Amino acid sequence: PPLDEILNLHDFEAIARQVMAEKAWAYYSSAADDEITNRENHAAYHRPRILRDVTKVDWSTTILGHKSSMPLYITATALGKLGHPDGEMILTRAAAKHGVIQMIPTLASCSFDEIVDAAQPGQVQFFQLYVNKDRNITKRLVQHAEKRGIKGLFITVDAPQLGRREKDMRMKFEAEDPSEVSKTGSKGVDRSQGAARAISSFIDPGLNWNDLKWFKDITAMPLILKGVQCWEDALEAYDLNLAGVVLSNHGGRQLDFARSGIEILVEVVEKLKEKRGLTFPNEQFQLFVDGGVRRATDVLKAVALGATAVGVGRPFLYAYSSYGPEGMDKALQILHDEFEMNLRLLGAPTIRDVVPEMVDASNIHSH
Ligand code: FNR
Repeated sequence: PPLDEILNLHDFEAIARQVMAEKAWAYYSSAADDEITNRENHAAYHRPRILRDVTKVDWSTTILGHKSSMPLYITATALGKLGHPDGEMILTRAAAKHGVIQMIPTLASCSFDEIVDAAQPGQVQFFQLYVNKDRNITKRLVQHAEKRGIKGLFITVDAPQLGRREKDMRMKFEAEDPSEVSKTGSKGVDRSQGAARAISSFIDPGLNWNDLKWFKDITAMPLILKGVQCWEDALEAYDLNLAGVVLSNHGGRQLDFARSGIEILVEVVEKLKEKRGLTFPNEQFQLFVDGGVRRATDVLKAVALGATAVGVGRPFLYAYSSYGPEGMDKALQILHDEFEMNLRLLGAPTIRDVVPEMVDASNIHSH
């Protein structure tokens, strides 16, 4: 269907499923085991306010001190060329055009430098890090990223082993795939169990809390842990003076039956207030959420509860896999339009006016 018939981010998924190569669809859409976490959507409802002047609304914000046109960023997703020959560079260009921040994945199909070179002068990019067993490789990668102007290092901590994504495993990942990662994948990998397994064997399952001091020694970039799932670990990150955490279940691709980001958020905000007197949003220690975000209302619920911004993954992959760069334009335009309308309906002229009282999270109990 023509792009102007696309009304929301879900539409891209339905179309992508029909038009994408089967192997690419399997890798992008798959989740762990029975895909329960991926399907789970937790009930939190809005409590809007009325009779506020919402003639002008402004949904821009700052993320780690950098301007963003929306409280949303493009999260890291591997193997961007499975969906389109230009891969991650489509996301880079769309991010520039629409004023959002892109997180570059370690396992990008394009090389890291290609993706940085595709950015406009002054465009902010983050880097997602999978930590290699060979720390020299990781050190080189991190220091190169910093030298190229990357503004935040998101260390993925929920993947000591890649989740079992059976949809993906049923597809063989072949060496001659144009989509194959350029440099980071290690040699001698088993390609018989899908794309995810094939590219991830270098990841160090030995990574632990004691390693974080080393990261502080080798880089001055803000450090954020991606994949925190309970308040105890968020507290530990705060006590180590990290810049923040992403509350995420990796799009349901890792531990099945993991909780949703928003559910974790409620618990983290409550406990960090109780234990350390913190209030959110907080400049020094920022909370991010990702997973299943398809609407501006999903974002605004997280923002109301204390998140600085929210990551979006699959919808953008589906948008450009189906329609190329125009698909990304459309996806981001849809989100802008949704922010405008929903801020008006919430009675919140700016992101700062989106407060906890605007969400009823009583269905979400913390532990
Ligand atoms: C991911 N995600 C991910 N995360 C990460 O830290 N490193 C990675 O290489 C990848 N790769 C990846 C590939 C694909 C195809 C998907 C769908 C996801 C997880 C991603 O950053 C994020 O946590 C989820 O995608 C968010 O959920 P939604 O928005 O996709 O529902």
